[in-house]
Amino acid sequence: MKIGIIGQGYVGLTISIFAGQHFEVIGFDNNPNTVARLNQGISHIEGVESRDLNTLVKNGSYQATSRPEALSEVDVIVIAVPTPLTPERQPDLGFIDAACKTIGENLKHPILVINESTSFPGTLRNYIKPAIEKYSVTKVEHQYAISPERVDPGRGDFNQKNTPRLFAGLTPEASAKTRLFYSKFCDKLVEVSSPEVAEAAKLFENTFRQVNIALVNEFAQIAHSLGISVYETLDAANTKPYGFMKFTPSAGVGGHCIPVDPTYLAAVAEEHGAPATFIRRANEVNLEMSKYIVDRVQTDNGGTLEGKSVLVVGVAYKPNVADVRETAAELVIEHLRERGAVVSWHDEVVGTWNSEISAPLSGADIAVVVTMHDSVNPADVIQSAPYVFDTTGKLKGVKGL
Ligand SMILES: NC(=O)c1ccc[n+]([C@@H]2O[C@H](COP(=O)([O-])OP(=O)(O)OC[C@H]3O[C@@H](n4cnc5c(N)ncnc54)[C@H](O)[C@@H]3O)[C@@H](O)[C@H]2O)c1
Repeated sequence: MKIGIIGQGYVGLTISIFAGQHFEVIGFDNNPNTVARLNQGISHIEGVESRDLNTLVKNGSYQATSRPEALSEVDVIVIAVPTPLTPERQPDLGFIDAACKTIGENLKHPILVINESTSFPGTLRNYIKPAIEKYSVTKVEHQYAISPERVDPGRGDFNQKNTPRLFAGLTPEASAKTRLFYSKFCDKLVEVSSPEVAEAAKLFENTFRQVNIALVNEFAQIAHSLGISVYETLDAANTKPYGFMKFTPSAGVGGHCIPVDPTYLAAVAEEHGAPATFIRRANEVNLEMSKYIVDRVQTDNGGTLEGKSVLVVGVAYKPNVADVRETAAELVIEHLRERGAVVSWHDEVVGTWNSEISAPLSGADIAVVVTMHDSVNPADVIQSAPYVFDTTGKLKGVKGL
């Protein structure tokens, strides 16, 4: 089989590398800079080694392209494009629509279309299939399946091979072909009874995390008001061998999944007249954490941040990745600047962000630690300012949540 993968970001490139061990893969991306670098064997994604990519490029198993016609000979297409929110925080299927147009206009023989992009239940059946049919020049009938991506970029213990993969086809034939495709590089395949179950399961997994993170963030505020350590309390609760799962507080949630996917579930719930109370409130609690943190920092520093130099340490949304999408650091910086602080940030993994570059880890009046990469020395952070507020729980002997 020849495979086309639309979108060569975190998800699409990762799949390309695994699939490229068994099939000829065409990685289609509409960003020509990404394509040029990929064809030189240079990976832009943590967890995808340039060495592995280079091997596939050299032996002809992988080629990146921005030319949609290059997809015309493939047997399977995997959609791995962003599914963000609109400015009104509603699901934005614009990238999916563009991918459907590419497929409709360029695939003139029947293929299997697998969606890996995260979206609400019904997206494959009611949106992707009709959209591809609308754009199809030859009105050819394709097969359709969903296999929501669960990859956690930067993670060492779980990957495409050992993370069980959910899937469902719109027809038994689509399911069978999907199984054949993934069985080459996934140890465990879990077929569910409909695409809607697979789509909903993915959203619920991330909603579970979002709600539990919000709960622990709220609890951090309660613990502080009671004058007890949130971390010690969580460790104590975690000694219960059943019925408890430990989440840790933070400046909020970030990345392309946790702050976004639950809103897809809430939107579809409300469209069907079902309540999404927890989901909506959890989102608010997580977004409000940045203000709570800046309030605490301000109180500890004489009630004003006017003119003070504040260094935000770690702006990636989580440790050891350069991903700044929806990062809580952005809101922390916004609140600090609104209160007159002179803000810079240090994050050598991210390097450049919002036209600013990573500042040295020293010389500030105040440091607020949002993300601690493994490459950062805790002692250097502690010495970077006379007052340090840690939101990660990784630094000893400083103020924090
Ligand atoms: N990043 C994660 O950890 C993760 C995990 C699980 C699921 N997902 C889901 O996977 C999907 C993709 O996320 P991602 O993190 O890989 O996004 P990404 O932004 O890293 O990559 C998307 C890529 O698609 C390209 N692109 C956009 N529109 C295109 C089009 N019409 N044609 C060709 N290329 C196009 C972009 O240039 C970009 O390179 C989303 O639905 C996301 O929710 C992401």
